[in-house]
Amino acid sequence: MNLTVIGTGYVGLVSGACFAEMGNTVTCIDVDEKKIEDLKKGIIPIYEPGLAPMVLRNNKNNTLHFSTELDAHLDKCDIAFIAVGTPMGEDGSADLQYVLAVAEEIGRLMNKSLIIVNKSTVPVGTADKVKETIAGELQKRKVDIDFHVVSNPEFLKEGDAVNDFMKPDRVVVGSNDKAATEKIRTLYAPFFLSSSDRLITMDVRSAEMTKYVANAMLATKISFMNEVANICELVGADVNKVRIGIGSDSRIGYSFIYPGSGYGGSCFPKDIRALKKTAALHGYEAELIGAVEQVNERQKYIIANKVIDRFGEDLRGMTFAVWGLAFKPQTDDMREAPSIYIISELVKRGAVIQAYDPKAIDEAKHFYLKDLEEVTYYNSKYETLANADAMLLLTEWKEFRAPDFEELKKQMKQPIVFDGRNQYSDIRMKQRGFEYYQIGKKNL
Ligand SMILES: NC(=O)c1ccc[n+]([C@@H]2O[C@H](COP(=O)([O-])OP(=O)(O)OC[C@H]3O[C@@H](n4cnc5c(N)ncnc54)[C@H](O)[C@@H]3O)[C@@H](O)[C@H]2O)c1
Repeated sequence: MNLTVIGTGYVGLVSGACFAEMGNTVTCIDVDEKKIEDLKKGIIPIYEPGLAPMVLRNNKNNTLHFSTELDAHLDKCDIAFIAVGTPMGEDGSADLQYVLAVAEEIGRLMNKSLIIVNKSTVPVGTADKVKETIAGELQKRKVDIDFHVVSNPEFLKEGDAVNDFMKPDRVVVGSNDKAATEKIRTLYAPFFLSSSDRLITMDVRSAEMTKYVANAMLATKISFMNEVANICELVGADVNKVRIGIGSDSRIGYSFIYPGSGYGGSCFPKDIRALKKTAALHGYEAELIGAVEQVNERQKYIIANKVIDRFGEDLRGMTFAVWGLAFKPQTDDMREAPSIYIISELVKRGAVIQAYDPKAIDEAKHFYLKDLEEVTYYNSKYETLANADAMLLLTEWKEFRAPDFEELKKQMKQPIVFDGRNQYSDIRMKQRGFEYYQIGKKNL
C-alpha cells in the first residue's frame, strides 16, 4: 500500500519505517524542516534500537521517503496516519491543536477518497472532531469526497519500539466502517504471520479509551508498588522480597511491580492527567487516578530527599556523580525524567553535578537541563566520579549493572551510592563496603 504518516516523531518514524519494512511505500511528513532535511541525509533524530538501519535501508530502497509537503503525497496514498504530538494542555487535558491542524490540512488538500487513521493518543470523541474538521474544510471547498476516520492507538514503548511495532502484543482498530477495517487488517496482516487473532476491532470511542486505560493501569501498578516501597522502608521490610512474594501469584504477576523513582517519559504523565480531566469533564472525579499521579509526584523526589537526609540541606561545595539521565534505558528521551527533578533539587541547594548517560547527554545539555550551569557532562561513566562526595544511579542502563567497584572507590571521595533505579538490590555494594541507599529499603 501507499501510506502517508503525518508527524515524524517517535511514533511516526518508527511506524513509517516498520510499514516500509513490510513492503509498503511510505512517506513521513513533518513540519520540522531540519528534521526532514536531516532524515533525507540519513541523520536519525532519535535514538531507538534497530531504528537507524531500518530507516536507512528503506530510504535506500525507495520505500521510505521524507517530506514537509503533504499535498504532494495525499493524492497518492491509500491511508494517511496522524502521528503528531498531543502534549498536556494547561488545564491537564490533551492539547489537540496539532491533531486538528492536520485534520484541517487534510480537508483542504484531499482530492480522492481516503482512510485517515489516528495513531496519536487522543481523548474519546477526538475522531468525531477530526471528522467534523475535515468535513468542514470539504464543505468550504464545495466538494463531496468519501473518507473514514479510524482510531488505531499505538502501544509501542520507547527503548524497544521497533520490536514492539514489528511483533505487537495486539493492534487495536476502532472503526465504524467495515471496508476501512478490512483495509487496516490487510495492512497489519504481515505483522501477525504466526497468529492472526491479535488484531482487535471495536468502535472508535472504545479504541480511543483503550489507550488511556492501558497507560493508566501500568502507571497504577508503578505508583502502587512505590507506595508499598515507602511503607516497607518505614516498617523495616525489604520491598524486593515483598515484590517476589506477591509476583508469584499469577493473578498479580511480576511485571511492572518494581519500585523506583516514579514514572516519567512522554506518555504516562500526560495521559494519566488527560484521563482524569476527561472524567472530570463528564462530572466524575477519578480519585484513584488522581492518587496515582500524586504518589508519582512525591516519588520523583525520594532520592533527592535521601541525599539531603544524609548530607543536610546545605549542599554547597559538594559534588555528585550522576549515572543516567534518560527516563528509562535504551532511549535518549528525557521528557519528565526523574533525573530532571532530582538534579534540580540538589543544584538548588548548591551542589555541583558530574553527569553521564549513554544517549541522553545532548537532550539534557540543550533542552532539559540547559539552564543548570552546575551540571557538567562526561563521555564515560568513570570520569564523573573524580572527587565526588556520592554517586547517584538514576537509569537502568545495562552498562551500569556491573561497575568496577574498585574504580568507584578509587575515584570518589567516599564510597556512598544512592540508587534510584527500579530493578536493583545490589548486595555487592554492601559487600564492598559502600554506604548504599535504595528506594524501599533502609540503607544497608
Ligand atoms: N513516544 C511514545 O512512546 C508514544 C507511544 C505511544 C503513543 N504515543 C502518542 O503518539 C503521539 C506522538 O508522540 P511522539 O512521541 O511520536 O511525538 P513527537 O513529539 O516525538 O513527534 C511529533 C511530531 O509531529 C510533528 N508535527 C506537529 N505538527 C505537525 C503537522 N501539522 N504536520 C506534520 N507534522 C507535525 C512534530 O514536528 C514532531 O516531529 C502522541 O499522541 C503520543 O502520546 C507516543
